[in-house]
Amino acid sequence: MSTPLPDIELERIEVDLFVSALKRRYGFDFSQYAPASLTRRVRQLMHVHHCDSISALTARLLHKADFVTQVIEGLSVPVSEMFRDPLMFRALREQVLPLLASYPRINVWQAGCAYGQEVYSLAILLEEAGLYERSHIFATDFNPAALKRAHEGIYPAKDAQLWSRNYIEAGGSQSLSSYYSARYDFIRLHERLRKNITFTNHNLVTDKVFCEAHLVLCRNVLIYFSNPLQDRTLALFRDSLVRGGYLCLGLRESLDFAPAAADFTAVDASQRLYRRKLQAPSGEHDASA
Ligand SMILES: C[S@@+](CC[C@H](N)C(=O)[O-])C[C@H]1O[C@@H](n2cnc3c(N)ncnc32)[C@H](O)[C@@H]1O
Repeated sequence: MSTPLPDIELERIEVDLFVSALKRRYGFDFSQYAPASLTRRVRQLMHVHHCDSISALTARLLHKADFVTQVIEGLSVPVSEMFRDPLMFRALREQVLPLLASYPRINVWQAGCAYGQEVYSLAILLEEAGLYERSHIFATDFNPAALKRAHEGIYPAKDAQLWSRNYIEAGGSQSLSSYYSARYDFIRLHERLRKNITFTNHNLVTDKVFCEAHLVLCRNVLIYFSNPLQDRTLALFRDSLVRGGYLCLGLRESLDFAPAAADFTAVDASQRLYRRKLQAPSGEHDASA
């Protein structure tokens, strides 16, 4: 007779089976997400959907194909703010946009855009720098429900106070309210800010580079990934960026220790702003040359 397994070990097996089902049945690969936060979200899904165990959740996932959308939504954590970490947006405004101004066309890739608050913040920054007309923002996420809401650009009015303060701290000189209309308990960002934004599905784990970017912004996504997946994703960003292009990460994320670090210099390390080197690190063949 084998000895009984501690609950924590049983849970680990159940989470592994859940992750395997998600990958084999639907192609979503969470095998390299950081285990602690992934397990928390799987437990939460189990409670929200009134399943008695993670195994019951897995059975439902396997047998009810339309359940996968709710599972992805539950695993996705689309929490965001407009001008979140305002000093980072100020650094973008003051240190990056003036240099991007030398390009005739500016491509921005915002990966992990959640409900779009950062995308509209970027559109406002570009507009205030006089660059929006020649910019295009590709806003991507793997959560279709989040992308739909991002495209709508409608948010609870109660969030606008904090976002207005963020905007001013980020160096904004107008009132944030000049960029939205308020109705009942909601605000809606103006249509003109959406004009040069493409919202599209992209999975950082399984999809490849899809645009040649001058700025890549991916904040508060890598924290959910294991170190090898972070390294792979950072290499994807490097390969998407033109030489001299900029990379912006979340404040709890960094390039330190990643192999791709050799290809970047820090513009403002405290705000996690980096620039791809104009030349390949010495001794390396430059495939893009
Ligand atoms: C915490 S939100 C970050 C939102 C915003 N960037 C910010 O910092 O305010 C994380 C987002 O990453 C997305 N995400 C997680 N894993 C992803 C993946 N493999 N590919 C694309 N997006 C992913 C989630 O759907 C979620 O919308």
